[in-house]
Amino acid sequence: METILIAKEGHVATITINRPKALNALSTQVLTELNAALDEVAADQDVYALVITGAGEKSFVAGADIAEMKDKSVEEAAVYGKFGNEVFRKIETFRCPVIAAVNGFALGGGCELAMSCDIRIAAENAVFGQPEVGLGITPGFGGTQRLARLVGAGIAKEMIYTARNIKADRAAEIGLVNKVVAAEELMPTVMKMAAGIAKNAPIAVAYAKKAINNGLQTDIDNGIAIEVEEFSNCFATEDQTYGMTCFLEKVREKQFSNK
Ligand code: CAA
Repeated sequence: METILIAKEGHVATITINRPKALNALSTQVLTELNAALDEVAADQDVYALVITGAGEKSFVAGADIAEMKDKSVEEAAVYGKFGNEVFRKIETFRCPVIAAVNGFALGGGCELAMSCDIRIAAENAVFGQPEVGLGITPGFGGTQRLARLVGAGIAKEMIYTARNIKADRAAEIGLVNKVVAAEELMPTVMKMAAGIAKNAPIAVAYAKKAINNGLQTDIDNGIAIEVEEFSNCFATEDQTYGMTCFLEKVREKQFSNK
């Protein structure tokens, strides 16, 4: 792959969008290779957490590729929008947690990519925004849907209608990012969090992700029913017996088997 790098450390995989000359803008090639990289990582059952970041020190992802979009027809824009949304939905429903390590500009499709991840950690120099209406379009890779769900309709509408960017500290204030750290601390912080997630029972973590995501899309009674199902499903796993036995036998260093 030309525009995507995949690395693995222990049970944590990292996907890096590697098109720094265009500030990692999402061309069709980048989206296609990102889609393939996600499939490759998903197939590796030894991966319990995934990190997504951008190459270089300046940009996470500066959005969809404006040069490529400029001359699209309505039909072509629909194909592009549908594909971008499919890739981001694949991230949102990825079988293990995904952390966005936001190392700079997260604009338009970049903000939308970060929002499709479970958790966002930002470097101090990160900048977030949905500048699309300034280009004559709406956000097209989930921004109108996920931003409002994450930060509330009022602030989402302000950000989208004004097309004004916000800095990392404001993104933390509105709940768009979980945490802001110094740029040099970004990857160590994210890798530590990913490794901390990967230490827990992977199936239970995956079921918890499913319960939270699906529960957010429904009413509380259905949400509780989803939780009961995922909770009880855990009791069919070896890791449930093992985890509870470790507690009762006071074993501190656990090695879950992902079974
Ligand atoms: N698409 C295509 N190319 C892009 C790009 C993008 N989204 N963002 C940056 N680039 C390219 C620039 O054209 C430039 O290329 P050249 O060197 O060949 O001229 C290179 O990356 C470096 O960019 P700048 O010179 O502009 O760097 P800067 O430091 O002066 O500015 C920036 C950085 C503020 C991020 C600025 O590049 C910028 O505003 N980028 C566009 C951000 C944007 O509007 N994103 C939303 C896109 S629309 C979208 O994402 C729709 C959707 O929801 C699906």
